[in-house]
Parts: sequence; C-alpha cells; structure tokens
Amino acid sequence: MSELTDQIKAAGDYIRKHWQETPVAGVILGSGLGNLTKEIERSIEISYRDIPHFPESTVEGHSGKLILGYMQGKPIVAMAGRFHYYEGFSMKQVTFPVRVMKELGIHTLFISNAAGGMNPQFKVGDLMVIKDHINLQPEHPLRGRNEDTLGPRFPDMSEPYSKALIQSAYQIATANNIALHTGVYVGVQGPTFETRAEYKYMHIIGGDAVGMSTVPEVIVAAHAGLQVFAMSVITDIGIREEENVITHQEVLEAAHAAEPKLTLIFSELIRQL
Ligand code: HPA
Repeated sequence: MSELTDQIKAAGDYIRKHWQETPVAGVILGSGLGNLTKEIERSIEISYRDIPHFPESTVEGHSGKLILGYMQGKPIVAMAGRFHYYEGFSMKQVTFPVRVMKELGIHTLFISNAAGGMNPQFKVGDLMVIKDHINLQPEHPLRGRNEDTLGPRFPDMSEPYSKALIQSAYQIATANNIALHTGVYVGVQGPTFETRAEYKYMHIIGGDAVGMSTVPEVIVAAHAGLQVFAMSVITDIGIREEENVITHQEVLEAAHAAEPKLTLIFSELIRQL
C-alpha cells in the first residue's frame, strides 16, 4: 500500500471507531453555509484535529469538524469547514477528506460554496447549480504517481457534475418556488478577490461564477468515481461598472441569507438518494 492509501485507511478506521454506519453521501459546506449541519439528526461530531492525517481549518466562518448522522433518514457525513489551497495546504491535503469519505462508503458528494458572479443576469443571493468548471488553480490534486486502486491515471471529465442530480434539483426548486441559475464555475487560487479585468476575463472564457474552492474536491471525486452535485451562492457581483469593493463580511452575509434555499435542495436530493 502507498503512503496515501495508508493514511486514508487510518483516517477511515478512526472515524469508524466512533460511528459504524455507512454514509451514502458526503457534504462539503462553504463559507457562511454551515447551517445545514443543524438538520443532521442523531449526529456525532469529530474534530478534524483528532482524525489522523486530517489538516486543520484556519478560515473565519469555517469551524473544522466532521459531522456524522442522518438527514431525511439517510446516513451522511458532512464537513463543517473545508480546506483551501490559499490557506497554504497542498492540493493533496485539500482533497484528503474526499478520499476519506469515499473510504467510508459514500457514492455521492454534495458541495456548496460562496462565489462571485460574472454572468450579468446574476444578483447577490442567487443560487447557481454548477454544470461544469474551468480550473485556473495552480496545482493539480492528481499530480504525481497515480494510485490505481483509487482511480485511473487520466480521469474522464466530461460529466463531473451529475446531470441526473441537476435535473432532480430543478424539479425540487420548481416545486418549492426557488429560482435557480445553472452555470460554469471558475476555480481560482485566491486569496485576493479578482480585479475588474480578471472578472471580465473569466466571463469571456466562459465562466459564470468564480470562487476559491470546489474544483480540487470535484476532480478527486471524479477520479474516485463519485457523483457530484455542487451549488454556488452568488455573494458578490464582480463585473459591475460602479464602485465595487468586495469584503469577506459581505460574502458571509449574502451566503447566510441564501442558505435556507440551498439547504432545502440538498436535503431533498439526499432524501431521493
Ligand atoms: N471571487 C473569488 N472567490 C469568491 C468570490 C469572488 O468574487 N466571492 C466569494 N468567493
């Protein structure tokens, strides 16, 4: 076994000592979007710092624990707090939790994030289902020797976001009067927000929203054969012509405001699994 597979197994073994259920889905929650975990029933929590080989989260608004329990009767594992490349973690560290959740048994991964909007039709507080992404991050999580037991050397990326789940999300949204956009997420390194010229560039190359997360986790999920559903909350609009200063506080407030809609969609999708 390689060092990575040893580490995944050690983390999985530690978690299984505390919770013996097999989760069907994993959930990774973005900045200001942690409240979904309050709906997890009969849950137990494990601090990242206690899990072998897990990095520890450093960002304000990310608390740093794994929550294991039931949502809509389904066993799930949720991350309250995720790891970002801009914090100084390697891409292997950023994506390690996805490997561990797969080891625990998940088939489906749900991801939320806060993102800046480039599509002129978007407003602050809107929800965007991610249908595809453009990876502008500087390091690739699969660089290096491939671990064939985890996935193929050259993973297909023609449908990293499950079309079936996107379709179900639209049905749920319509039934609950929730407006959704669908779009392309551009993954960047951060930690700066973009310049006006960069937002414009990212729109020209086909992006609808931009953020500093998600893409590495989705790449590793694709490598691991997991189906993914991911959704952005648009927390700021990058391409406005008028004065347009973006703060982390604004991002968190907009994310909080939109969160109930996002939670409902995730929760209903989990019920249907
Ligand atoms: N850019 C990058 N990341 C973000 C943004 C943004 O405008 N908003 C929230 N996360």
